[in-house]
Amino acid sequence: MSRKHIVAGNWKMNNNLAETQALITDLKSKENTGDAEVIIAPTSINLHAAVEALKGSTIQVAAQNMHQAESGAYTGEVSAGMLKSIGLETVILGHSERRAYFHESDELLAQKVNTALQHGLRVIFCFGEELEDRKNGKHFEVVSSQLKNALFHLSATQWSQIVLAYEPVWAIGTGETASPEQAQEMHAFIRTTVVDSYDETTASNVTILYGGSVKPANAKEIFSKPDVDGGLIGGASLKATDFFEIVNAF
Ligand code: PGA
Repeated sequence: MSRKHIVAGNWKMNNNLAETQALITDLKSKENTGDAEVIIAPTSINLHAAVEALKGSTIQVAAQNMHQAESGAYTGEVSAGMLKSIGLETVILGHSERRAYFHESDELLAQKVNTALQHGLRVIFCFGEELEDRKNGKHFEVVSSQLKNALFHLSATQWSQIVLAYEPVWAIGTGETASPEQAQEMHAFIRTTVVDSYDETTASNVTILYGGSVKPANAKEIFSKPDVDGGLIGGASLKATDFFEIVNAF
């Protein structure tokens, strides 16, 4: 898959069934005037309803997480096969909230990525440094080790199923975004890191999203940077008008 513009909404643990359906109705009434692929990621219990409600629409549905095992005694978990069985093609893995609150390590995420790819799911892989790392000048080091540990065992061919989402933890849900220059600097670094372990083609084909307090007011400037291919949107994806202003920043 070659590089494209993507705007994905991570709804996190928001919206019950009726609210999910209402927001989707609103989203369907909006016009995508640019060239961004649009994805929403509702909570797992509402994924099937979202897929049904979006039949015939170009808006796609992704899951926010999945378990690495095929099936079995993992109470409360959802498998890759289950996601595929309701028609999903994409899963978000490695979100900083999963890493922080559910102790997901790079090693575990490598397993989840493998399982997702085996099932033909595309992965939106999230990673990013904490404020402390940036203050200590360790942000490049942290990001390159997150990528290396979870993704660099993959073949170049498998990379066509990977979308990267750089989300500095200090910018998530805080109202504080990375500046467009900070985002560009890190995205360029990420591409160089991919060149070093793979090749130019793999690096230039990978779509790299920025996430962390993207809003209608700042989306255009962030998306104008050459290595920023789109956004992973939390808070601002919960209102159709705001979300589509971001989508239409492309
Ligand atoms: P935010 O969340 O846009 O609310 O900062 C982004 C994310 O967590 O993906």
